[in-house]
Amino acid sequence: MTQAPTPSSRPFCYPHAESALHCGKVSLEALARRYGTPLYVYSANQIVERLGLFQQALRGREHLVCYAVKANSALAILKLLADRGAGFDIVSGGELERVLAVAPDAAERVVFSGVGKTAAEIDRALKAGILEFNVESEAELALLAARARKLKRKARFALRVNPDVFADTHPYISTGLREHKFGIDIRQARRIYLSVAGNRWLEARGVSVHIGSQICSAEPFGAAIERVSKLVRQLRREGIVLKAIDGGGGLGIDYHGGSFDATAEVREYAAAIERALDGFEGCLLLEPGRFLVAQAGALVARVLQVKRNGKKTFVITDAAMNDLIRPALYQAYHEIVTVRPRAGKSRIVDVVGPVCETGDFFARDRKLQPVEAGDLVALLDAGAYGMAQSSNYNSRLRAAEVLVEGAKARLIRRRETMADLLGPEMV
Ligand code: LLP
Repeated sequence: MTQAPTPSSRPFCYPHAESALHCGKVSLEALARRYGTPLYVYSANQIVERLGLFQQALRGREHLVCYAVKANSALAILKLLADRGAGFDIVSGGELERVLAVAPDAAERVVFSGVGKTAAEIDRALKAGILEFNVESEAELALLAARARKLKRKARFALRVNPDVFADTHPYISTGLREHKFGIDIRQARRIYLSVAGNRWLEARGVSVHIGSQICSAEPFGAAIERVSKLVRQLRREGIVLKAIDGGGGLGIDYHGGSFDATAEVREYAAAIERALDGFEGCLLLEPGRFLVAQAGALVARVLQVKRNGKKTFVITDAAMNDLIRPALYQAYHEIVTVRPRAGKSRIVDVVGPVCETGDFFARDRKLQPVEAGDLVALLDAGAYGMAQSSNYNSRLRAAEVLVEGAKARLIRRRETMADLLGPEMV
């Protein structure tokens, strides 16, 4: 039998030998009975704890932890974080509305990233009074200035620079090289800051950098911040004093169920950044997404059939790539465990969904505990970029979501209905 995940790295565990998998004190069997499957289950405790790790590690300096909303934009999770002082990193007008819906006061803690912002999105964010725009091109800066002038509201901005730093992660989620679409070549940044220095509608508040996601070593973060700090010092000599450095997100987690010391990971990451800040006394912003929510979540699915084709065994679940696309899109690994372990030998299987694509798999040639039709399985570490990247592909209804707080569980998003699916269309 696969070892139970350690409670310190994940909230999902088997409280004792004979029991089913729990999230904290709540049985996943009970949740599946009550809310059906596929079902996303999140631990509020872990999300809060992870935010605390960042806040704690940065306590020696002025800072703001801006949760990257894209990782999991559930309103209940945003509220949980907003109540504990988190800021937010958003990339669309939709994400801004989500933050405003649960925490209007948090507008002043919002940074707006993203490579293509529309005039309407900029206007809404200016009116809401967000903290800063992370600007990704000269043309966008011109658009921001024009909108600010029109609305008579000063726009605080940071240039998102591209530091040309390599980060060892999946190519789809690496962003810090010159060949990527993100940011402004760091060598151009000085010229651009100087060019808008006299614009009364723009306030150069900071500089931002984000080199990619699921990066498991502190070193590239340090390298990127080092380059940014150098730019900040150079600008200061020329009379432009930036108040904030935004180090972006990207700190990775362990998807393989090994022992994972989140506290040590955050400490090491923060220390590497602190060293690279090299005396910078302003505010440090960070934009973690995955690290706060990934390990707090699991996708619970029911086995529909176990089927043999030639030499292969397929475990077909009622969850599919539309619910969790990470394995199909990034060849991502998610540990899969049976909710109520059965006696017997593990087998090598493919765990797949019902969608009509060969790419609809969660695991290939994976050693899995014995399972039968009707059993529940849990895909672990699915709290980040799971539900957030889900779709209605194959006209499948999106899953329900449950948040576990201590011994209590509550529905935070109901399962979609056929009316939700057909509603927006006309014939
Ligand atoms: N800040 C910016 C500007 C970003 O683009 C991102 C993520 C973050 C912060 C948060 O990064 P995190 O701390 O979560 O690594 N769908 C992919 C990940 C895409 C990440 C996109 N940007 C996945 O499932 O692995």
